[in-house]
Amino acid sequence: MPNPYLHGNFAPVHDERSDDHELPVTGVIPPDLNGRLLRNGPNPAVAPVDEDDYHWFSGDGMIHSISLADGKATGYRNRWVRTRALAAKLETAAPKGPSEPLDGPANTHVIRHGGTTLALVESGFPHAVSPDLSRARVHDFDGGLASPMTAHPKVDPATGELIFFGSDVFGPPFLRYHVVDADGRLVRTEDIDIPRATMIHDFGVTSTRAVFLDLPVVFDLQLASQGRTLPYRWLPEAGARVGVMPRSGGNADLHWIGIDPVYAFHVLNCYDDADAVVLDVIRYDRAFDTGPGEAITSVVPALARWTVNLATNRVSEQQLDDTAVEFPRIDPAVAGLPHRYGYCTRVGDRADQPAQHGLVKYDLHRDESTRYEPGDARASGEPVFVRAADGSGEDEGWVLTIVYDATRDASDLVILDATSFAGPPVATVHLPARVPFGFHGSWVPTDS
Ligand SMILES: [Fe+2]
Repeated sequence: MPNPYLHGNFAPVHDERSDDHELPVTGVIPPDLNGRLLRNGPNPAVAPVDEDDYHWFSGDGMIHSISLADGKATGYRNRWVRTRALAAKLETAAPKGPSEPLDGPANTHVIRHGGTTLALVESGFPHAVSPDLSRARVHDFDGGLASPMTAHPKVDPATGELIFFGSDVFGPPFLRYHVVDADGRLVRTEDIDIPRATMIHDFGVTSTRAVFLDLPVVFDLQLASQGRTLPYRWLPEAGARVGVMPRSGGNADLHWIGIDPVYAFHVLNCYDDADAVVLDVIRYDRAFDTGPGEAITSVVPALARWTVNLATNRVSEQQLDDTAVEFPRIDPAVAGLPHRYGYCTRVGDRADQPAQHGLVKYDLHRDESTRYEPGDARASGEPVFVRAADGSGEDEGWVLTIVYDATRDASDLVILDATSFAGPPVATVHLPARVPFGFHGSWVPTDS
């Protein structure tokens, strides 16, 4: 069976382009959108000989950048993230900077913090990329990082701190907690005890607490020794736990609570509610229960709310919707605070045929959702919310998403008004190159 992640719009592009001129637009780009949408994703530079050897999570990272200024789309460019692993494959100059524990891709997210643009992957160190994306430098926060950094750090909107964890499959410790200040200095590292190396893709941060997910997708040394690119497997007997820690605390302060074995790659948001922590996740019954070259799980995910009650030592679950969704995002201004809205990508109802459709906006106060349908043969990526310059309400802003049009084999940047989410878009920027389905990205204002 062909590997689904090497075909259609999952297939890589082969050119690095620099189209720094005005791009065609349908509609009107909001003039307050001055900056760049950066989006990272896997784009294998060398085609695998055996398709079963390729895993979506293991492709070389490529960042796509779309610039907007004063109501115009002023350019598009794409560049591979030049990691040591990619340089070895292409026999080009390796990036500068410290050694990583393991050379691999940097393909999962791209953020800007403390004046530095960082390409992230959970299996390695960040790579600081140059403004034109053409150079990368391994970034370990001046020697502060001893193990990889998650691709899902959180920014506290009040303090500007970047709060994150790192998984180290070669531990113990298998888990570390870190805080970087608003200027980009690593100021805190705590070793966290967990019994084994598990895949921890995301976590929760409230205004006072950090919440860790120790779920039973387990690193398997035997699979690693067989050369499998992603040596993890579903092992429900390992148990599943949620751990809550004061942000200023350490391992001794962790409060672990057992839950039924499930998996979550992503957390929409997390906030304090007195003695409880509310954590909205994209929940899977299981994951990594499939074979080489197959889709990542045999089940489809949906939005669920976990209420972690520290007084009763229980986690209760409420399924919030039954629509298959992924790539959850919020307004960054409510990160760690009670949120009303969430934005996700619809991912299709068949786990064995990974697909992306339109977007869903959740109103969690009214228990309602609104869909953006991009049209026949069109498929949306992750929704990135940007608060409007004059926006005061949580959904007063724009949702940016890259849409693939199978009819034209081309991609567009679609800009939606989040308050009239069902569309039509306020603007569609027609990109000069196809953008393969990828993972995560950020809006980077010009003045940041
Ligand atoms: Fe992710």
